[in-house]
Amino acid sequence: MRKIILDCDPGHDDAVAILLAAGNPYIELLGLTTIGGNHTIDKVTHNARQVLTIAGALDVPVYRGASRPLINDVVTAEDIHGDSGMEVHGYNLPEPAVGVEDGHAVRWIVDTLMREEPGTVTLVPTGPLTNIALAVRMEPRIVSRVREVVLMGGAYGTGNITASAEFNTFVDPEAAAIVFGEDWPVVMVGLDLTHQALATPEVESRFAALGTSAGDFVVALVDAFRHNYKDAQDFDNPPVHDPCAVAYVIDPSLVETVPAPLSVELAGTLTRGRTVADFRASDAPCNSSVATRLDVERFWDLVVDAVQRLG
Ligand code: BDR
Ligand code: CA
Repeated sequence: MRKIILDCDPGHDDAVAILLAAGNPYIELLGLTTIGGNHTIDKVTHNARQVLTIAGALDVPVYRGASRPLINDVVTAEDIHGDSGMEVHGYNLPEPAVGVEDGHAVRWIVDTLMREEPGTVTLVPTGPLTNIALAVRMEPRIVSRVREVVLMGGAYGTGNITASAEFNTFVDPEAAAIVFGEDWPVVMVGLDLTHQALATPEVESRFAALGTSAGDFVVALVDAFRHNYKDAQDFDNPPVHDPCAVAYVIDPSLVETVPAPLSVELAGTLTRGRTVADFRASDAPCNSSVATRLDVERFWDLVVDAVQRLG
């Protein structure tokens, strides 16, 4: 069993990441923390509660996190995720049956890491890294207690929100710099990997064939996501980024990684938020790695299996 904290901004692909974490038997989802990103903190927190309700994961606590980046102004992604932040086609989203816990997400992340046995909890951020950066500044001892940080964000190739930068690291580059700068194991699951996780019609039909509420929800997400991704970025099939990070935690053999020091551009006018993976050979010890290749078939098998278990 892997204990995780999923720090997310649902978001279509965050929603699939939540379903994977909730349905996979090897994941113990300690809690969901939310971060303003794809939409406002209010909307993404509401969406997270709806996803947990669909998953039947009513005992997973939800903590509301930062509403804005450390320095940047708020940037949201309605073009991809719609006005609600989690637009669906043809599915009635339920009223959330899951509440929001008292207290700030950052405080809860710190308290949880200080309480749990060291080396047992993996942080899985799938939004801007603001909460994680605040947590490590609030309590630096969490660095040695975390098992690893497996994040969806960044790219060593082309960006998506700009030619240079991926959305999550663009929204809060200073937070990314803090996370990359700490001495904890980091795995960057960036666009180079997640653009392989395309929800094709064949993939979508596997969820439809489940004939379950969670399966129908994935179909409704993918329909809207495909439409928006076509309009915004001319993708025929949408890349379902965030569950790739959860999949890596469940089974690292699904994802090829290469060790590389990571940094993020903070100053460039064209390149702000760009992540730089230094692939030059070096003997220096390196605690970070970059995801390069996905076993696409086994990845979707894993997600379909988890969604099936949710019923
Ligand atoms: C990332 O940005 C968000 O829009 C997605 O949820 C994903 O986390 C992809 O760049
Ligand atoms: Ca996300």
